[in-house]
Parts: sequence; structure tokens; C-alpha cells
Amino acid sequence: MNEAYAHLIVSRQGRVGIAQLNRPQALNALNSELMSELVHALQTLDADEGIGCIVVTGSEKAFAAGADIKQMADATVVDMMGSPFLGYWDAVQRIAKPVVAAVSGYCLGGGCELAMLCDLIVAAETAQFGQPEINLGVIPGAGGTQRLTRAVGKSVAMDMILTGRRISAQEALGFGLVSRVFPASSFLEDSLALAAEIAAKAPVALRMAKESVNRAFESSLAEGILFERCAFNLLFSTEDQKEGMAAFVEKRKPSWQGK
Ligand code: CAA
Repeated sequence: MNEAYAHLIVSRQGRVGIAQLNRPQALNALNSELMSELVHALQTLDADEGIGCIVVTGSEKAFAAGADIKQMADATVVDMMGSPFLGYWDAVQRIAKPVVAAVSGYCLGGGCELAMLCDLIVAAETAQFGQPEINLGVIPGAGGTQRLTRAVGKSVAMDMILTGRRISAQEALGFGLVSRVFPASSFLEDSLALAAEIAAKAPVALRMAKESVNRAFESSLAEGILFERCAFNLLFSTEDQKEGMAAFVEKRKPSWQGK
């Protein structure tokens, strides 16, 4: 994989695609160029049949320190309304394959909002999460007030968003914002191993599973259950369902075809 990106390094390890934010001089602050490149890279990996799971990561020091404050500082309301900037976050949500946010260091503001758009967040023990926009005279603008509240509940979300305080990886684990915390020394390796484990599963079932879990945030319980039921039943039209269940009965490992 050899796209010419200015602020992003894209690579692959087996069936795992890796998009690494690479704007070290600004702690990976998310400007328009970086977000546009990220969306392009994610869409390219999503369309690649050889990829089963995507990892979005940053550097050891920063996943991303937020949207680029310098780029926004002089904007007017009309500039903001006319800008495609926040739409890039929406595009991340439309990626069909599982996306893991592997977070080390600062994960703040739009960086935390980007991580929450991924399907799960794993963190190095050194990671720090926060929505510090209140300290800039604004509020989270890329979904933070909604997704953080759904992830950690009202009281913790209010505490973080009204004070702008940062929480540690261990706190984030306790609040359910992240699913696993890895030692700093093996963080990337551990994150990629998790992504490889996911990437080795049946591809169509992975998509259905992701879409079904996401329904929980977009619909009533009854509608979500109905969506799940239809997706579950639909999977019985795939070769992978036949293979998966036959392999169980025959006490062997399944071999997935993705169809
Ligand atoms: N935007 C633009 N530049 C940023 C940035 C950001 N969000 N975060 C850091 N940088 C830049 C700094 O300006 C600095 O650049 P210079 O060397 O040119 O001065 C460089 O990155 C290194 O940063 P610091 O010197 O500040 O590093 P530090 O280790 O002392 O502090 C930090 C690290 C606590 C993360 C601090 O940089 C910080 O507070 N950053 C801003 C965090 C923030 O407020 N994020 C929210 C942004 S608004 C948003 O995201 C809106 C939204 O919801 C979409």
C-alpha cells in the first residue's frame, strides 16, 4: 500500500489495514487535509477484499490532540457552516469493516470523537482521554456530547465536558469508553494482534455484527431486535454459515470464503 499522503502513513499486516495519523509537530491535530486523507485511506481499505479489519492509530505521544485549533481560530459561523470539515467524521462512521482505534497518549477533543466513531477503542496505559473544548469557549462539535454520553453515561460525560478534565486509560476502562488497556511497551503489537483476530473471522458476519450493534444507538429496542433478527436469518444464506457450523460439528477449524 503506497498512497502519497502528507499526514498519514498507511500500511498493512496480513488482513489488517493500518492508518497512522502522522502530524507530529502538532500532536496529530486534525486539520482538513489530515481528515480528508484519513477518509480516503479508510474508504480505500474498506473496498480492499484483502483487508478484514482496520486500525486507526497515532504516535506514542498522541493519538490526536483534537481538531486543529489554529485552523479554526479565525473562522466565522458562516465559514464553519460552509466547511466540509465536520462531515469527515460522519464519513468515518460509514466504513463497513470493523475499525479499531488504538490510542496512545493524548486523545482529546476531535481526537476522542474520532476514536469514539471507531467500533472499539483499545488504549496504552499512558493514554489520556478528554473533551477540553469548554476551555476554548466552545463545545465538542464532532459528536462528543452524544457519543461520550452514550459510552459513559450522563454524569461522567457532563463531568468531562463541563470541566474539560482528562481521564486516564484505567478510568476510561472503568467507564466503558475503552475495551482493553495494554502495557505501553507492547501496545501496538497487542492492538494489531486483536485486529488480526477480528480480521480472521467470517467477513460477512463481521459486517452484520457491526451493523447490528450500531443499530443499538440509532433505533428503538424493538427495531434493533428486528434488524438483528433479519441479519441473523440472512446469514443462513452464506457459505460461511454452512462452513462454520459444519466445522464445529466435524471438530475442525473453519475456512471462511467471505460469501
Ligand atoms: N490544534 C492545533 N495545534 C495543536 C493542537 C490542536 N488541537 N494541540 C497541540 N497543538 C500544537 C501546539 O500548538 C504546539 O505547536 P507549536 O510547537 O507550534 O507551538 C504543538 O502541537 C505541541 O503542543 P504543546 O506544546 O501544547 O504540547 P504539550 O505537551 O505542552 O501539551 C496538550 C499537550 C495538553 C495536548 C496541549 O497541546 C493541548 O492542550 N492541546 C489542545 C487540546 C484541545 O483543546 N483539543 C480540542 C481542540 S477543539 C476540537 O477538537 C473541536 C471539536 O470537537 C471538533
